[in-house]
Amino acid sequence: MTAKTRIVLSSDHAAIPLRLAVAAHVAARGFEVVDIGPTTPESTPYPQHGEAAARRVASGDCQLGIILCGTGQGIMMAANKVKGVRCGVCADTFSARMIRQHNDANMLALGARVVGEGLALDIVDAFLNAAFEGGRHAPRVEMIVALEG
Ligand code: RB5
Repeated sequence: MTAKTRIVLSSDHAAIPLRLAVAAHVAARGFEVVDIGPTTPESTPYPQHGEAAARRVASGDCQLGIILCGTGQGIMMAANKVKGVRCGVCADTFSARMIRQHNDANMLALGARVVGEGLALDIVDAFLNAAFEGGRHAPRVEMIVALEG
């Protein structure tokens, strides 16, 4: 029996409704969702939520992560400070596929003020349906990893 892929989700206050929609979509696809909030709408700083989700991925507790804020940019920047995380912010499906295939991204960031729910779910599907291609891309990803020191 293979373990389900665990996907951690988090956001700041700006993206709670979209995060809940993504969580329902990902769970309906059969993945195990680890939604670490927040659950209340008060303003809350995106770096702490990006870090918390990134640590779940870096530790191996979750294999992938999806994080959201208003633009996706700030929470992506925070997540990428955690060693072992490669997170890209995407507003199109092509990029979401390519960050898995070429960059071996283990986290996806979305901007709730940038993309609507329909496009966001398509982006999530493109990310989840793709796999790292290895080959010529592997040494390039290793160069990214080496930058972590
Ligand atoms: C919050 O207002 C906003 O700054 C945040 O959600 C995000 O867009 C930051 O990158």
